[in-house]
Amino acid sequence: MTAFKTGDPTTLGRLYGRTKGHRLRPVQQALLDELYPALAVPEDGPVTAAAVFGEDRPLHFEIGFGGGEHLAYRADLLPDHRFIGAEPFENGVVSALQHIRDQGLSNIRLHMGDALEVLRRVPDGTLSFLYLLHPDPWPKARHAKRRMMNPGPLDLFAAKLKPGGIFRVATDDPTYCRWSLMQMARRDEFEWLAKSADDFRKAPGGWPLTRYAEKALREGRELWFFQYRRR
Ligand SMILES: C[S@@+](CC[C@H](N)C(=O)[O-])C[C@H]1O[C@@H](n2cnc3c(N)ncnc32)[C@H](O)[C@@H]1O
Repeated sequence: MTAFKTGDPTTLGRLYGRTKGHRLRPVQQALLDELYPALAVPEDGPVTAAAVFGEDRPLHFEIGFGGGEHLAYRADLLPDHRFIGAEPFENGVVSALQHIRDQGLSNIRLHMGDALEVLRRVPDGTLSFLYLLHPDPWPKARHAKRRMMNPGPLDLFAAKLKPGGIFRVATDDPTYCRWSLMQMARRDEFEWLAKSADDFRKAPGGWPLTRYAEKALREGRELWFFQYRRR
């Protein structure tokens, strides 16, 4: 396991989980060497649509985009919006680069590393959408502090979303589902948009299933989808 200090008290403070998987093929390495630098979020300064993309547009942020299929789907669906995705896993970043290249998307920028480091640089009250899909569940109680759905990261999410901004969370882990409900019930900045019990058992329109969601379905596990509006 690789752990990086981020030095930011509002975040989890370090990055857990693997950052490298199977060795990249030369064509994948070339994509990482050539396309990633052109699409990487600048290393410092405020992270706004105007600063990163050169125009003021609604800004979306995906934490831990995995293979990038959801990010690419949303960016394709909303070409006038701007998207930032962060993922420390190199193979995931390469997969997202492939989607961006193959779909000809010009409204995505990526960060290979801790999402919370970049999110911290987004000015408060400016994000239109924030996505946290199938975050690592850390099911053991002694690892609960590593979960994204914890007071520190949730404070950051609440600060960065604009009033009316949307926070989408999905999980296929029953412990994480209960934990998330408990964490969100303690907060008054978010309005849960579920109208009926069934609303969080199926993905709302425009919310494609990710790789982890598909895997959970294949393995016969349930999925839960939560949508909150920033008050
Ligand atoms: C279970 S996977 C889900 C991936 C994807 N969202 C999906 O649904 O297929 C969780 C992902 O979160 C990423 N992750 C973990 N900690 C992170 C962090 N601090 N910032 C960004 N991504 C993170 C992991 O590398 C991993 O790809």
